[in-house]
Amino acid sequence: MIRTPVCDVLQIDHPIALGGMGSVYAPELVAAVSGAGGLGAMGCHYLTPEQVHAGTAAIRKVTNRPFALNFLLFDIEEDSFASALALRPSVIAFAWPSPEQAVTPYVERAHAAGCKVTFMAGGVAEAVRAAQAGADVIIAQGTEGGGHVGWQTTMTLVPMVVDAVASVPVLAAGGIADGRGLAAAIMLGADGVLLGTRFLASRESSLHPNFKQAILESDGHDTLLSEIPDIAAGLVWPGAMSRSRRNRFIERWAGREWALRQHRAEARAALQTARKNGDVDEAILSMGQDAGLVHDIAPAAEIVSRIAEEAERILTDRMTRLARK
Ligand SMILES: Cc1cc2nc3c(=O)[nH]c(=O)nc-3n(C[C@H](O)[C@H](O)[C@H](O)COP(=O)(O)O)c2cc1C
Repeated sequence: MIRTPVCDVLQIDHPIALGGMGSVYAPELVAAVSGAGGLGAMGCHYLTPEQVHAGTAAIRKVTNRPFALNFLLFDIEEDSFASALALRPSVIAFAWPSPEQAVTPYVERAHAAGCKVTFMAGGVAEAVRAAQAGADVIIAQGTEGGGHVGWQTTMTLVPMVVDAVASVPVLAAGGIADGRGLAAAIMLGADGVLLGTRFLASRESSLHPNFKQAILESDGHDTLLSEIPDIAAGLVWPGAMSRSRRNRFIERWAGREWALRQHRAEARAALQTARKNGDVDEAILSMGQDAGLVHDIAPAAEIVSRIAEEAERILTDRMTRLARK
């Protein structure tokens, strides 16, 4: 079994975390990842204080293992954040502060509530900012990932962040879907991994079955980084675009973002209907390039154990064989 220092910091068995995904409300998935010895995370971005309570209660009904509540700092809703702290989750997972935002007070409030803090960064400067603010774990997220990502690849970002944040443990995210990814992340100096896309195609994920199927059918070459999902949602993201499936909706507006701004209200309403109907051509499906590595819809616990076992096999058998030559 692979145990790294982050397992002690976060009180988990496997150095495998679920990315908080605010657009995919699925406490069952969070509980399943945590119950399997990883770190589940519930994205709280779109949740009211009551929903944060209900989601947390649903997780705690299934497992007493550690899990994270995830907040996007640039758009944080004070009431929801305060209610999350009152619930004292083991971990608060932050991401995406705006450039001028003071982040230390948020980290301090989480610590004062007895929570560990993870902080996602898509670049070295953001990682250093998070470490200086007192984050306990840095998530180095590369551009291959699904949803909002920066510009640097996971392969280059992870070792740079590891060097820059010294003794703070780092998890690698973006483009990782199997044990090979975990083994590679460890070789790059990370202590573990955080995954989004792979868990979207899990049995407990609340994604419409058609979207899960689209991830299975993806060869990983059908994603596009664009501002289209944010323009349609009326969001101005601080320093990121969003990686989603390159479908009819995305292709209609790519290069015509000005026109999408003009037709935002209709486009937004149409997107909501398409999402409800599981229309994979006309809804936004955020997913990473690692969709090409996802070949089944498995229970989340099985995904965690498969990744842990495969990485262990690679790091013991393969490395020993190669090192002997
Ligand atoms: C559908 C979707 C929604 C996401 N929402 C959030 C979010 O609310 N908060 C967050 O910190 N990260 C969010 N992310 C990013 C993930 O936490 C993670 O960094 C990313 O999925 C890793 O790349 P991968 O998809 O290749 O595994 C989201 C990702 C996806 C695919």
